[in-house]
Amino acid sequence: MPSRHPELDPGLDLFAEIDALRRRLNAVILAHYYQEPDIQDVADHVGDSLALAQRAAETEADVIVFAGVHFMAETAKILNPHKQVLLPDLEAGCSLADGCPPDEFAAFLARHPGHKVVSYINCSAATKAMSDVICTSGNALKIVASFPADQPLIFAPDRFLGGWVAKQLGRDLVLWPGSCEVHEVFSEKRLVELKVAHPEAVVAAHPECPEGVLQHADHVGSTASILAYARETPSRQIIVVTEPGILHQMRKENPDKELIPAPGADESCNCNECPYMKLNTLEKLYLCMRDRTPEIVVDPPTAAKALVPINRMLELSR
Ligand code: 13P
Ligand code: SF4
Repeated sequence: MPSRHPELDPGLDLFAEIDALRRRLNAVILAHYYQEPDIQDVADHVGDSLALAQRAAETEADVIVFAGVHFMAETAKILNPHKQVLLPDLEAGCSLADGCPPDEFAAFLARHPGHKVVSYINCSAATKAMSDVICTSGNALKIVASFPADQPLIFAPDRFLGGWVAKQLGRDLVLWPGSCEVHEVFSEKRLVELKVAHPEAVVAAHPECPEGVLQHADHVGSTASILAYARETPSRQIIVVTEPGILHQMRKENPDKELIPAPGADESCNCNECPYMKLNTLEKLYLCMRDRTPEIVVDPPTAAKALVPINRMLELSR
């Protein structure tokens, strides 16, 4: 249990306080599956990036509290320019978004004339603004397949997700060389050792993992699709190759199955925990609602440009 914030009365019932603030502010709390269990439990909706963007697009709440990372809250703000969007910790970034600086991305696009641009939602508003359509891991195949086969495409910023999409669809994609620092460290060698130790287990993996890892998976998909697979598979043992925050919902939904988190390359680290997602805590969630800060701000012209490819994704995902 993390120690209490120095400002906070240790006797405070954070669940009750957050609930009261939710009603007072007419707020909706959206949480990603990688958030800590308490945050998932207090949220109105828990989901993958696509479901959370869809919730943000349709909410009637006045305030959106986004328990996730910056690009997710930023997407919610772009969809709701007149609403307040709060993020418990503004430092909650993402290696994919940080690894695609807008000026370098603009130069990359200039080197590939005639290409349409599909960008994974894990990128900044400025990168989205330079894209034709946004995708998530939940709809990347469908979004890329919506372009004619002879249309040259750039896929950014995740080279592993892009490589997996290219392989599934049998089409060439020009890939921006980014990666998720959490998923790229899953080790093929250690996954194979785990499979040998659990020969009955099935493997469910996130497409942000390297190809060597994905080739051993029985199911590859977004966090929501991994959860659906875990519910539906008749197998009693599931090796889970994604951020371990997902295990909270998976355990609730599958009390009688054995869930086996795949290890990273180095046993001594917690490197499969997303350090950005884990910056948010229940206390920071409470404080951001109490103080109505930190608030997400997006420069309006960039937001207006970024809204076009986000809306295109939402249309194509209906
Ligand atoms: P999804 O929940 O959309 O699968 O995304 C995973 C992720 O890494 C979010 O940053
Ligand atoms: Fe970004 Fe990876 Fe963390 Fe998702 S898990 S927020 S892709 S660093």
